[in-house]
Amino acid sequence: MEFSGNKFKPSSVRSVSDAPVLSVERGDQSVDQLDVSDESCADFNHNELRVPRHVAIIMDGNGRWAKKRGLPRLAGHNAGMKAMIEATRAASDWGIRYLTVYAFSTENWKRSKEEVGGIFKLLIKYVESELRELNRNNVKVNVIGDYEKIPKAALLKLEETIETTRNNTGLNLNIALNYGSRAEIIRGIRSLVQKVLKEVDIPEAHEHSLKNNHDVYLKIQERLEEIITEDSFSRELYTGDELGNIPDPDLIIRTSGEERLSNFLLWQAAYSEFAFTPVMWPEFTREEFRHILKDYSGRDRRFGGR
Ligand code: FPP
Repeated sequence: MEFSGNKFKPSSVRSVSDAPVLSVERGDQSVDQLDVSDESCADFNHNELRVPRHVAIIMDGNGRWAKKRGLPRLAGHNAGMKAMIEATRAASDWGIRYLTVYAFSTENWKRSKEEVGGIFKLLIKYVESELRELNRNNVKVNVIGDYEKIPKAALLKLEETIETTRNNTGLNLNIALNYGSRAEIIRGIRSLVQKVLKEVDIPEAHEHSLKNNHDVYLKIQERLEEIITEDSFSRELYTGDELGNIPDPDLIIRTSGEERLSNFLLWQAAYSEFAFTPVMWPEFTREEFRHILKDYSGRDRRFGGR
């Protein structure tokens, strides 16, 4: 049982208390029963809610939220950061194993210098104010995306956070930064093709006869099929081997009324459930999150089967 970091007691040490029973998804369709007796779960009806193993969130609507109030866009991101902190607390309290939040996409660099700089300053502020609590709550922070390209000061703070929380065993909080799913896919393809080419000495083949070239071609084809598989490809993604193979998201939430993926987890979303809410991200509360999980709990996931 791997929930030692959260506040839930594993079923193997279940006491004869009246603690409610919580179903937590572990495999594609299987569930585990855990006893829950902590106050932090008081807002969660464990008899009617199924806890997804991995929830991913497209935190959208910060700008519109600010505009409606006559505030600068950065005030919207600041309020969005607070909503992210609340969503993380809720996910941790409820026993969700992975929470992936889309904080900055590869396309977001097109925004004004002021806004981009402001978002990374917020990231620093977030780490400075939250690291202690994240660590106390046993949250392990990771980043997906080409994040080494973000401003140096933010990068150093993030690396400190990843290092400090490295051995935590509770919620895995994955922050997507300079993340783009198409770029992630191309990166994975290139890495696998390199593995194939390493095995076949192509320059040497050019010096041989056409027949030998044909042999080399056949060998490449054979190794391509062996080396490039759905499984090996998944392991090349940011969510793959680098981060211990994060399971695909069970549920993807997008706020602000928009209903699209916007280059987020395209491969990983193959069998995800979707939840779209008109609520702007800064107004996304624990109650709204719980409401979405209730709706998710009633869905029948068949993964292509009957
Ligand atoms: C989308 O809203 C939000 C973002 C691109 C940034 C998300 C940032 C945060 C939630 C806060 C900062 C937290 C960290 C960890 C960096 P939008 O600006 O696209 O909203 P709009 O569509 O209404 O303009």
